[in-house]
Amino acid sequence: QNSQDGIAWAQEMVRRTLPERAQDSHKGVFGTALLVAGGPDMPGAALISGLGALTSGVGKLEIGTYRETIRSIAHAAAEATYVPDALIHIANGTHSLTSYKAIACGPGVVPDALTEAAIDSLLKSSAPLILDAGALSERSYAKRSAPLILTPHAGEFSRISGYSTGQIAESPGPCASAFATEHHLTVVLKGPRTTIAFPDGELYRNPTGNAALAKGGTGDMLTGMMLGMLCCHENWRHAVLNAVYLHGACADEFIKTRSPHTMLARDIARLLPEVWKRFE
Ligand code: APR
Ligand code: MG
Repeated sequence: QNSQDGIAWAQEMVRRTLPERAQDSHKGVFGTALLVAGGPDMPGAALISGLGALTSGVGKLEIGTYRETIRSIAHAAAEATYVPDALIHIANGTHSLTSYKAIACGPGVVPDALTEAAIDSLLKSSAPLILDAGALSERSYAKRSAPLILTPHAGEFSRISGYSTGQIAESPGPCASAFATEHHLTVVLKGPRTTIAFPDGELYRNPTGNAALAKGGTGDMLTGMMLGMLCCHENWRHAVLNAVYLHGACADEFIKTRSPHTMLARDIARLLPEVWKRFE
């Protein structure tokens, strides 16, 4: 394969890098993740990404969302706790971010001034931060000590980077890598073959996944899974790569016996326990 496409993150690498859950561990070892997701019209995004995080190794999960969203999803994500009106409190600095092991923001979030103000606060935190969907905008990125991970699809990447969708389709690796190194962040450029570009220029491509993923909600699931994996992996790069790999591997497992037309984003979290186990 062309080196411009990056190194394939292969099965053996997943096997070597998935973490153990030590027998004597407790939830504090894995830490608390904060997931800011789910606008009033998109409560499902908070649920789907929440399920992704809950099945991917967190110690505890807090979902920051709207009061009405909490009411509509709490029964289905019963293991999580909730931060009502999270965007407002984060933007105002009235919700402390110091205790989180990792943070993700974006699924189902409306890209408005309040979201931007909240992201400014999130960027100042010292936790690894994933920005997705509604949290992806054209902005400047001050250098931060903890990793910053953007998870755009090609349309979102075009919007934040200024590359045309044509350029991105033609050379996803070089586009993602140039943006990642210039802004000192990680780009997970999603698509039929997801490209992962790290700030030091290291470039990977993901070999798993299929068209069962070509439907709404699967990206939200990935964001949640990545958040959970950041909590249980020691090496954050391995967390990013393994989340993308296992997300695709679950879809591959689904279509062994079922039509790709019929997979729900939620099915990924349902299949993950068995798929993950195969690589442990
Ligand atoms: N083959 C393999 N993987 C695929 C394929 C395919 N043909 N099509 C999509 N995928 C994978 C992508 O790699 C990615 O991991 O499915 C996921 C889709 O993610 P998104 O494009 O973010 O989709 P979605 O879940 O609908 O996003 C939800 O965020 O991006 C916004 O506008 C979007 O509001 C929507 C929300
Ligand atoms: Mg998306």
